[in-house]
Amino acid sequence: MSAPAGLDAVDCSRDKRDGRALTGAQIDWVIRAYVEGAVADEQVAALLMAVYWRGMDRAELSRWTDAVIASGERVELSGLSRPTVDKHSTGGVGDKISLVLAPLVAACGAAVPQLSGRGLGHTGGTLDKLESIAGWRSDLSPDEVRAQLEEIGCVICAAGPDLAPADRKLYALRDVTATVESIPLIAASIMSKKIAEGTRALVLDVKVGSGAFMADRARAAELAATMVSLGRDHGLETVALLTSMDVPLGRSAGNALEVAEAVEVLSGGGPDDVVELTLALATEMLRLAGVDADPAGALRDGSALRVWRDMVAAQGGDPDAPLPRASHVTPVIAPRSGYLTRLEARAVGVAAWRLGAGRARKEDPVSATAGVVWRVRPGEEVRTGDVLLELHTDEPARVGRALGALDGAITVGDEPTPDRPLVIERVD
Ligand code: URA
Repeated sequence: MSAPAGLDAVDCSRDKRDGRALTGAQIDWVIRAYVEGAVADEQVAALLMAVYWRGMDRAELSRWTDAVIASGERVELSGLSRPTVDKHSTGGVGDKISLVLAPLVAACGAAVPQLSGRGLGHTGGTLDKLESIAGWRSDLSPDEVRAQLEEIGCVICAAGPDLAPADRKLYALRDVTATVESIPLIAASIMSKKIAEGTRALVLDVKVGSGAFMADRARAAELAATMVSLGRDHGLETVALLTSMDVPLGRSAGNALEVAEAVEVLSGGGPDDVVELTLALATEMLRLAGVDADPAGALRDGSALRVWRDMVAAQGGDPDAPLPRASHVTPVIAPRSGYLTRLEARAVGVAAWRLGAGRARKEDPVSATAGVVWRVRPGEEVRTGDVLLELHTDEPARVGRALGALDGAITVGDEPTPDRPLVIERVD
């Protein structure tokens, strides 16, 4: 593909490098030419680095997002009988909220089309978690997605190869060129996929803290505001919650372990923080979808659990099959009596990953059974010799490295630390 007159990859990089806004024609062309292989990786790498330093204005970002969406197909969900609404999380440790939220919001009357990805690094992927259920499959066709949304009200499945393919290529290049941490590039990457999946409304859970992609609150708030305005510019009702990710969510991180915890919450129990965040996000989703319902009631009365069972079964899974369990469980013991004052989210995520729950490269397999269970949460009392954590794995040789990740990440003190709010800020 030769460049149309006046368009050139070097000019794109030079303009951006020198602080000039890219034109719509430049953006459309460079994204399309990159996907088609007509512009080389090194040229787009230079452009991404220029965007990293110079940013993009609102019009550029909107056009960039449009060009990424236009590289693939847009899912058409407008004919459904229920309003569509989805949620995206920027990823946290022990974050099993999607597993509960999709059936819960469906039980309340909205349709949740959740096209998800797999995990990379220390935060787990929703599909990896669901794949610990015997028989469950993630590869649904667009017709299957639509039919399941109409019949059951929710679907969690893999984004097909036609959904924003430019993002896949750009993300892989960002990953090896130190350009992942750019707010406009992250916003365009996340929002292009959500806009292309066809939902009409979106709630973003932007995590802040040591276990999050963004440790800094001001940057997380900027990312949230950027995604909210990008969503609005594309006709998507969008709201973001900034939520804390200094402490891992719930009591477990790992694939089957998190499914088990999600089922506890769907059954009306489970850890308070998972319930609190799920209800906060469900309330926002239902408000955007215009549905007046009581999500806490749907957890209590079993209706969310019924939708979960239907969703799992519709995707080939057996909701009654016992979840796999690790063959080795290594306890981590409290060294003294007192209160657990710190359990560092990132360290727990890395430990779960090293036990086999996550992958370093996207081709790597993940273990269904590996992970970490924390028997004590920050603020709770412990006595010398109590089990603080359990390290689950089928490969005991991994335990030493997991323990290494936890070195210095756990503190038992004399006084309980005050509770910090889970939902920090609402951005709309
Ligand atoms: N998740 C995405 O999908 N894209 C990014 O750029 C970062 C996180």
